[in-house]
Amino acid sequence: GKIILGDQLLERSDVLIDLEDRGYQFGDGVYEVIRVYGGKLFTMKEHIDRLFQSAKKIKLDISMSPEQIQDLVESLLKENGVNFGSVYMQVTRGAAPRNHKFPLPASNTKAVFTAYTNEVPRPQSQLENGVEAITAEDIRWLRCDIKSLNLLPNVLAKQEAADSGCFEAILHRNGIVTEGSSSNAYIVKNNEVMTHPADNLILNGITRQVLATLCKDNSIPFVEKEFEVHDLLHADEVFITSTTSEVMPVIKLDGRAVGNGVPGEITRKLQSLFEAKIN
Ligand code: PDD
Repeated sequence: GKIILGDQLLERSDVLIDLEDRGYQFGDGVYEVIRVYGGKLFTMKEHIDRLFQSAKKIKLDISMSPEQIQDLVESLLKENGVNFGSVYMQVTRGAAPRNHKFPLPASNTKAVFTAYTNEVPRPQSQLENGVEAITAEDIRWLRCDIKSLNLLPNVLAKQEAADSGCFEAILHRNGIVTEGSSSNAYIVKNNEVMTHPADNLILNGITRQVLATLCKDNSIPFVEKEFEVHDLLHADEVFITSTTSEVMPVIKLDGRAVGNGVPGEITRKLQSLFEAKIN
């Protein structure tokens, strides 16, 4: 299929990325993943807005408008005929002789925007049966609100989960549960949904924001408050959300059953509300 480089649709095999691209050398860039359901981009505007917010936070000038990116991504989707899948897009600070400092304006270094599509089915059986997770220390930096290309701590945590046969690692910092390695994390206790506040310690997921609205519209208490690993391990229900995982029940943590060891009632309710939203 085709990909986007800058403002052009090209064959993937025709694309060359400079080996001194700052994304490649420093992880100096930001990214987004948008889900495609039935050929349509889900919450596209929110994702593009967040891409611009992330870029701003690292003083990166994308040098394209949100509308331009939206048009490009839509034409890519059409060109590749994606039905159920995702779009990955990223922007780096461009290619310049290696130096930690930003390239000088006089060097005319331009941000490098790339995007490609994937055909991925919805994770039906995992959504139905739930997944297992481990807990792991959150060793990331203090700007997790930025969707940065620097994902090494997330990669290490996810691999630790995979090595234990688990789907996700739920992270904690000083005993407080923050989020998953590539998802937001929630507990249900006494029919209340609780999740970490959207501050610098987590990424404010677009799925998280959709969920907050669903909760409000359906009189399910949505509490943004810190909770401890102990609360996680003794919750009635646990679930995670992300663009690719949707509302995913967690039925086992560190090898022990969560609640009755099956997806909980509130989680099921939120899954069906979310499903209604994407159809
Ligand atoms: N990850 N927290 C982290 C650290 C994430 O990487 C993600 C998403 C989320 C959920 O955000 P959203 O609901 O907007 O997808 C939370 C994407 C999917 C990824 O890296 O593949």
